[in-house]
Amino acid sequence: MAKHKYKVVSLFSGAGGLDLGFKQAGFDIIWANDFNKDAVATYKHNIGNEIILGDITQISSTKIPDNIDVVLGGFPCQGFSVANNKRSMSDMRNYLYKELLRVVRDKSPKIFIGENVKGLLSMQNGMVLDMIKKDFQAIGYHVDYILLNASNYGVPQNRERIILYGNKIGIYDKLTLKKQNKKITTKDAIGFLSDVWITNHQITVDNRIINNHIASINVQDKFYARKNPPKQEDICDYLKFWRNKAELSTKKIDNIFGYAHTAGHWFRKDNNSGSIPNINDWWRLKDILNFDDKFDKQVTELELKQIKFEQSLRITNWDSPSDTITATQPEIHINKKRRLSVRECAILQTFPDDFIFTGSLNSMYRQIGNAVPPLLAKQIAEVIKKWLERD
Ligand SMILES: C[S@@+](CC[C@H](N)C(=O)[O-])C[C@H]1O[C@@H](n2cnc3c(N)ncnc32)[C@H](O)[C@@H]1O
Repeated sequence: MAKHKYKVVSLFSGAGGLDLGFKQAGFDIIWANDFNKDAVATYKHNIGNEIILGDITQISSTKIPDNIDVVLGGFPCQGFSVANNKRSMSDMRNYLYKELLRVVRDKSPKIFIGENVKGLLSMQNGMVLDMIKKDFQAIGYHVDYILLNASNYGVPQNRERIILYGNKIGIYDKLTLKKQNKKITTKDAIGFLSDVWITNHQITVDNRIINNHIASINVQDKFYARKNPPKQEDICDYLKFWRNKAELSTKKIDNIFGYAHTAGHWFRKDNNSGSIPNINDWWRLKDILNFDDKFDKQVTELELKQIKFEQSLRITNWDSPSDTITATQPEIHINKKRRLSVRECAILQTFPDDFIFTGSLNSMYRQIGNAVPPLLAKQIAEVIKKWLERD
């Protein structure tokens, strides 16, 4: 008789790092969801067709299967991340855990697991995490969390994450994983790809079949920037004045520039969504609006600037586990010629070599950086399986 497989529903599945770990531990993922089409394509290619593309806030619980054992939900973390200064309860993304809550309430699984960044612990002095815990307790779950660093569990990467978990089958144990004595270094993990120049093709290196060994070659520490940048609101007022004088609407200007441009940005006084035209656009606008020379110099005079310290210019650790693989451009390879390749990031996240990513370069980096390392997920899944077997 086939061994019983516990059934899993997975929310915010992304490319499927967490799901892959559960699958490797013998769980059956019967329904998954994400609204990012590249992540869904990657998931389908590597894990299965059980993933549905769509915004979870628009998916009714009746569309999600019943009789499930586990709900997984690595709810989005941007709003929670310590890397993001605007950590706030008002960030809409922070409310996405409510979708996990809703599905857990409506489907009543024995266990749920949520993953998140460490920043969740300190957000609003711990009040956010408290609120989340209380919400799950209120629907009948015993809730707890652990903070762990993936590098203690065989992942060649320092990655601190919170695992939030709850059950309604009377388990009060702390989720504990067995620490490994030796940490795996970046060199151990991706040293074999060091001298292999990036390529779009499948290659074989050290008897390993390697895909997605592509990388951003943006490793500059200098860039051109405006010498005396004007204030965005001044430019906005100025351009609006001349646009009105020329009796043109923003839409008209949009049409002149073509659809690739949204002239609206230049006429919007808002540091977040407004913008100052680039040099070419400025001269084109000048032809159209016939404005004077007041801001010409400030907008168009550039100088070469040195980027001071920035995370994005760091060179990756080599003789220790790598820094956290994030959803943005990865660190620079120690060869200083390129950033870590998509495959190198995937290896540092413990995705198997035959797990192939799809989408643009940045999209692939994002899918990988967003993921729970499958090797870590598998160890969590093994504990969860033991808990279910006790029931
Ligand atoms: C932190 S990632 C999860 C990664 C995943 N657990 C893994 O291990 O690969 C969060 C995911 O939530 C998805 N997401 C964000 N808002 C969503 C929404 N409203 N509906 C569906 N998916 C959403 C994002 O596209 C992203 O892939």
